[in-house]
Amino acid sequence: MNAPLPTLQGLDLRAEIDRLRRARNAIILAHYYQAPEIQDLADFIGDSLDLSRKAQANDAEVIAFCGVRFMAETAKILSPDKIVILPDMAAGCSLEDSCPPDKFRAFREAHPDHIALTYINCSTEVKALSDIIVTSSSAETILAQLPKDQKIIFGPDKNLGGYLVRKTGRDMLLWPGVCIVHEAFSETELLKLKAEHPGAPVLAHPECPPHILDHADQVGSTKAILDFALKSPSDVLIVATEPHIIHQMEKAAPGKIFIGAPGADGNCNCNMCPYMALNTLEKLYLALRDLAPLVEMDEAIRIAAKKPLDRMLEMAGNTVGKGDVGRPIFSD
Ligand code: 13P
Ligand code: SF4
Repeated sequence: MNAPLPTLQGLDLRAEIDRLRRARNAIILAHYYQAPEIQDLADFIGDSLDLSRKAQANDAEVIAFCGVRFMAETAKILSPDKIVILPDMAAGCSLEDSCPPDKFRAFREAHPDHIALTYINCSTEVKALSDIIVTSSSAETILAQLPKDQKIIFGPDKNLGGYLVRKTGRDMLLWPGVCIVHEAFSETELLKLKAEHPGAPVLAHPECPPHILDHADQVGSTKAILDFALKSPSDVLIVATEPHIIHQMEKAAPGKIFIGAPGADGNCNCNMCPYMALNTLEKLYLALRDLAPLVEMDEAIRIAAKKPLDRMLEMAGNTVGKGDVGRPIFSD
């Protein structure tokens, strides 16, 4: 029989999380797709590139990662001596699921003259089989550094890969994976929304399929979309990515109106990432209290996965990724 769940009633979770983060010398890293109450207590919020950089360089002993598993695993790959905890180990990613390591290995073996440029949204095993990891904010910068005649496999996101092919003119062999969240946006509903708000720019993540990207005024990582939204002179903006990022937009620009792009039912609820939603304040509290669930991995695979991640961090250079919208670390 499973042990009974601890009773959390009556606890001030925010105060307890604060107490534990100090007691444990922990840093709380959060992705923009996390629930607002998690974003609001994070020490650092960022896109995947920012979060990787922050995971690599910080003085904490514990990283409490509020995001999905591949993000927390990236933190562990880059900082093996730190304790890395993820509030819910079931927080996966449809892109990771679309790319099983054995099939990816066979794909690579079938194309021995290609290098594997791989989106960070994948398992540690797939990273270990790759040459260079990219994020949505670093992919173009990294691609531009590869010789023009270099043959490339790009996986697992065919939408990001297709966007890069169209934007850069590079021919790449694409793995057929998709993000279930960005696939859910409806072109028909988006066009209706544009007609209701003439002139409102559409900001889209490159995980969106081409029929959504075709209507976008700005395509970029979560951080790039956030920056664009804040700098834009428009007062009304349409956001085609997971809608929890709107929390940061509303905080930073309370006078503007941000509208989440709709799914097929005309409602944006279907565009919430079900994996990101698994993390809650309760689970974050328990994770800090119990130092579990722990992110762990085989050391040989970690070392193999670190090489393409290190390449990304070197090649990304100063690619914009300053996502420090959280409160200063350990300040009151
Ligand atoms: P970003 O790197 O743009 O934050 O994307 C992460 C992600 O999973 C988007 O679905
Ligand atoms: Fe994965 Fe899509 Fe969720 Fe991002 S939004 S974590 S790509 S399922």
